[in-house]
Amino acid sequence: MTIFHAMLVVTEFLLLLSKLSYGADDIITQSDSLSDGSTLISKDETFELGFFNPGSSPNRYVGIWYKNVPVQTVVWVANRDNPIRDNSSTLIINKQGNLVLLNRNQSLLWSTNTTKKSSTPIVQLLNNGNLVIRDEKDSSADEDSFLWQSFDYPTDTLLPEMKNGWDKKTGILRIFTAWKNWDDPSSGDFTASMRLTNNPETAIWKGSTEFYRSGPLTGGTSSGAYEMKVNPLTNLELVNNEEQVYYMYTLKNKSVFSILVLNQTLLLLQRLIWIPDSRVWSNYLKLPHDACDAYNVCGPYGKCVIDASPICQCLDGFKPKSAQQWSTMNWADGCVRTGNWSCGIKSRDGFLKVTGVKLPDTANTWVDVNMTLDDCKLKCLQNCSCTAYSSFDPNKDSGGCSLWFNDLKDLRVIESSRNLYVRMDASNIGDKHEHTKTAILLVSIIVSAVIVMLLTLYISRKKRKNRENNNEDEHYDLDLPYFDLATIVKATNNFSEDNKLGEGGFGPVYKGKLQDGQEIAVKRLSWSSGQGSKEFRNEVILCSKLQHRNLVKILGYCVESGEKMLVYEYMSNKSLDSFIFDQIQSKLLDWPMRFNILYGIARGLLYLHQDSRLRIIHRDLKASNILLDRDMNPKISDFGLAKMCVGDQIEATTNQIVGTYGYMAPEYAIDGLFSVKSDVFSFGVLLLELISGKKNRTLTYYQDDHNLIGHAWKLWKEDNIQSLIDDNLKDTCILYEASRCIQIGLLCLQHHPDNRPNMTSVVVMLNSNNNTLPLPHEPGYLYTEIRSIGEASSKRQISSSINNVTMSQLDAR
Ligand SMILES: *[C@@H]1O[C@H](CO)[C@@H](O)[C@H](O)[C@H]1NC(C)=O
Ligand SMILES: *[C@@H]1O[C@H](CO)[C@@H](O)[C@H](O)[C@H]1NC(C)=O
Ligand SMILES: *[C@@H]1O[C@H](CO)[C@@H](O)[C@H](O)[C@H]1NC(C)=O
Ligand SMILES: *[C@@H]1O[C@H](CO)[C@@H](O)[C@H](O)[C@H]1NC(C)=O
Ligand SMILES: *[C@@H]1O[C@H](CO)[C@@H](O)[C@H](O)[C@H]1NC(C)=O
Ligand SMILES: *[C@@H]1O[C@H](CO)[C@@H](O)[C@H](O)[C@H]1NC(C)=O
Ligand SMILES: *[C@@H]1O[C@H](CO)[C@@H](O)[C@H](O)[C@H]1NC(C)=O
Ligand SMILES: *[C@@H]1O[C@H](CO)[C@@H](O)[C@H](O)[C@H]1NC(C)=O
Repeated sequence: MTIFHAMLVVTEFLLLLSKLSYGADDIITQSDSLSDGSTLISKDETFELGFFNPGSSPNRYVGIWYKNVPVQTVVWVANRDNPIRDNSSTLIINKQGNLVLLNRNQSLLWSTNTTKKSSTPIVQLLNNGNLVIRDEKDSSADEDSFLWQSFDYPTDTLLPEMKNGWDKKTGILRIFTAWKNWDDPSSGDFTASMRLTNNPETAIWKGSTEFYRSGPLTGGTSSGAYEMKVNPLTNLELVNNEEQVYYMYTLKNKSVFSILVLNQTLLLLQRLIWIPDSRVWSNYLKLPHDACDAYNVCGPYGKCVIDASPICQCLDGFKPKSAQQWSTMNWADGCVRTGNWSCGIKSRDGFLKVTGVKLPDTANTWVDVNMTLDDCKLKCLQNCSCTAYSSFDPNKDSGGCSLWFNDLKDLRVIESSRNLYVRMDASNIGDKHEHTKTAILLVSIIVSAVIVMLLTLYISRKKRKNRENNNEDEHYDLDLPYFDLATIVKATNNFSEDNKLGEGGFGPVYKGKLQDGQEIAVKRLSWSSGQGSKEFRNEVILCSKLQHRNLVKILGYCVESGEKMLVYEYMSNKSLDSFIFDQIQSKLLDWPMRFNILYGIARGLLYLHQDSRLRIIHRDLKASNILLDRDMNPKISDFGLAKMCVGDQIEATTNQIVGTYGYMAPEYAIDGLFSVKSDVFSFGVLLLELISGKKNRTLTYYQDDHNLIGHAWKLWKEDNIQSLIDDNLKDTCILYEASRCIQIGLLCLQHHPDNRPNMTSVVVMLNSNNNTLPLPHEPGYLYTEIRSIGEASSKRQISSSINNVTMSQLDAR
């Protein structure tokens, strides 16, 4: 025993000596090993390599983390898919010069695989967090001299100075893969890497499906990636040559820690910044950033405009491929040319300039870096498969040339210097104003002619109908009044601009006055021409059966000469958003009124979800969809038409995102999974907006969190929820009641749908003032905006400049 003990001491001493003789804690030599319990520390003490348990997991892994960050921040894991079960494994350099991880029984758990050989290999942890195997004598920092480096095999974190890209010589493509979970570093299915196309761009995948695309990176700033924009924290570098393609960032101030991390739980790529004073990693940026960042959300030749409603539009000169699908906000099919494009025929072949876009998917592109834009155009004209061209690098004089040979996918309008020239029928191009004028003239002539014709037709049809006496039709007619076009034209003063109330999700809405003096609202459906008249009528009739005092009442409909219109009761007080977000109007809404509105919305939604015969998910509940009648009673509008969900289909998936930025539930925005609980989430947002008088999407609190939900949660945790209440309400509201409402709102905003109450419970909770409410957990706030590191740190100089940048980026959206 004593001999054994003595031997142990001697070995340990020798080990120590070997380290001392080297004078470094950042190196493992061939005669060394690194056992569980000891660590390597980079020379400047920024990074540490050793054995760790992630979260509360009993498994042990070898990893690299920030030494001086008190929150465990593992930036690289060696044996992520092959955990160690005990504390007796060691890291050594084997005879082949590889770094290997052996367990107690000397069996292999993990190994590097170097192809380059050296007689005296050592392992070193560098100051930038790169773990390298190099020759003992060759101390150059050039990566070509490394036999192996961990930077080539990243896990989920892109560190400063680490390349995200492709080494064409070695064939190494660096792929970032998220941890499965916060306590499980094994490979998730959320990955990111550079795309191997002629036009360098980065992308994120969920499984094998493309999830997000940055847009081509050439030209300093990318055409679509916020990460690539000039920012006060990082310097960006893009290299694209014969040997390698990569993008890399370095920190402007090395004492500020900042990393890019993929997060499987949130399905986000986040830029985090360490805030030493508050000891947290703060979010600076998230990708995808908004609904328009979802890959190809508007389909081929569609463009996503984040501020529009709905967000998808066709490029000029294109129309929806399937008008019916498009009208139900299913944009996957995208758009097709309106004109008669003919390849190579001068009068029918041209280009339309689309300005300020994220350039389309580069999967099938051709690039020449030296060509001029004019030559680029000619080159595109010569090939009938060419669909668009653009300069390769707008910052250079010659500009270069990129050609696209496939359908143009994943376009979004974004503040950027990039222009795209889209090929189309030349007759679609030219002075648009002239065209519109002629068009208006033509249309008005045609419309008046049509009206006359229709009137005659209608009269004769009515006569015939009376003779035929079709039972079914009569039944419909009894159920829901039919308005003929002439009546509506007259009531709305021929759809005059003065009568226009606004533009809804499905088309413009006009105010009208019938001959008997009744006021109506007419919604002129824009894209539903693909749907047959009969289907449309059936759908309207279904909707008209939904009758509740908190739903807008449908008075009738009209289908004639390709027009489809819905006639609603007119709401003299317009929509809720014109009250709560308006400085002056909001003063008119006292607490009893607001509570009444809230309760009414809840009742209306409950009716849609449960009490009506059709179980309907609204899918686009928001302040502008709540109309107010003369007595300020709320009425939900725009229900039912988006998609009918009859019977059991209360949960369904859709591959397209419908709905409005700021109100969407996380599971809906990410997986397209919608249920009545997604409406409950939107109700929660609406509730917070109504009580705080602030919009969820535009609000950014620089002092702390980001959007309204995050802010409410923070105040809740601080037991200070009352400061969320609108100042205009302070005099009239019963604090206890308002706080209770906010708590209900937070419950509606829970991240997981199962944790949200259904509308029955919401109505019960709103109704009773005594029952104790459940305590909310942290809500889901997917589309939180860029979070400022602002006041959270005391570095005001940096923070104010960061704020400026985030502000301008936000403004652009
Ligand atoms: C392994 O080491 C860790 C940290 O040193 C310690 O918390 C844990 O209890 C050890 N486990 C065993 C089985 O010895
Ligand atoms: C090591 O070997 C022993 C006996 O040979 C075995 O019981 C044990 O499971 C092995 N441990 C590991 C981690 O493989
Ligand atoms: C080792 O190299 C092979 C082929 O060169 C490759 O397929 C494998 O993924 C590499 N393994 C690791 C852990 O890098
Ligand atoms: C993702 O982010 C959330 C919120 O910051 C965090 O709780 C979670 O641990 C992260 N997940 C992973 C896998 O890192
Ligand atoms: C870098 O940041 C540190 C602290 O985070 C600060 O003290 C220092 O002044 C900064 N350096 C520069 C050049 O801004
Ligand atoms: C398209 O071309 C066909 C045949 O060339 C022609 O009949 C038709 O009128 C054209 N349509 C338009 C909209 O120009
Ligand atoms: C582009 O021009 C540069 C400088 O004139 C030249 O070195 C390079 O070879 C050219 N590249 C191609 C692809 O023609
Ligand atoms: C047009 O471009 C496509 C894609 O690069 C190519 O396959 C085809 O050969 C080209 N056609 C002509 C006529 O150059």
